[in-house]
Amino acid sequence: MNTSRLIRRSLAAAAVTLAAVSLQPGSASASPSPVVGGTRATQGEFPFMVRLSMGCGGALYTQQIVLTAAHCVDGSGNNTSITATGGVVDLNSASAVKVKSTKVLQAPGYNGKGKDWALIKLAKPINQPTLKIADTTQFNNGTFTVAGWGATREGGGQQRYLMKATVPFVSDAACQTAYGSDLTPGDEICAGFDQGGVDTCQGDSGGPMFRRDDAGAWIQVGIVSWGQGCAEPGYPGVYSEVSTFANAIRTAAAGL
Ligand code: ARG
Repeated sequence: MNTSRLIRRSLAAAAVTLAAVSLQPGSASASPSPVVGGTRATQGEFPFMVRLSMGCGGALYTQQIVLTAAHCVDGSGNNTSITATGGVVDLNSASAVKVKSTKVLQAPGYNGKGKDWALIKLAKPINQPTLKIADTTQFNNGTFTVAGWGATREGGGQQRYLMKATVPFVSDAACQTAYGSDLTPGDEICAGFDQGGVDTCQGDSGGPMFRRDDAGAWIQVGIVSWGQGCAEPGYPGVYSEVSTFANAIRTAAAGL
């Protein structure tokens, strides 16, 4: 991994801000690079979304297990230090459900390149619908939805309200044009517009990238992982490829 990637990674791990941002289609000032103008998600629109106290996102894999990014956690084992907030778009809402962690499982073999997934076991269930994970590559294409409480522009602050955006699939070949050998194609799936403008950003890490399946249900295909800046032209967002890890996630969750 090169130095700039390492810097991006450590910034990510230390993330204090998180959010998804999108450019309004047809927006008058398609701002230059990092600005990503998001839209707010509505209450209940993505009920599986969870905000984690270290400054990351996550999704309810089960009501008591959150799927997030490996770079959002310190390692594996008993861990009561994380608070998961669910059930709300407004983190300051009186109806927010806050639950402590009991255990963390970081992807086996995680070393900062690929394998960017982790599970967090909660002390009690969050009574919301869960997000199923893709276990084949069949949904690794098309248009994806991303959501989070992270920065709405590169260098910006975290958000109180959940933001959402949609981004198109980017092929491994095109993504390698941007990132070269920093990309681990089997482990990672990219998304974004050639012209930038819409992307996840710091603090969205660990949150899901998802789309509709053939029955119209949401299915998770990615986990927010990294990128060069946010929404920069020519630099798509990089997401953990959930289908690659579906079996490992299932096995790990069964043992938590
Ligand atoms: N690593 C960041 C985090 O910890 C997420 C960065 C996503 N970047 C992007 N350009 N899509 O929050």
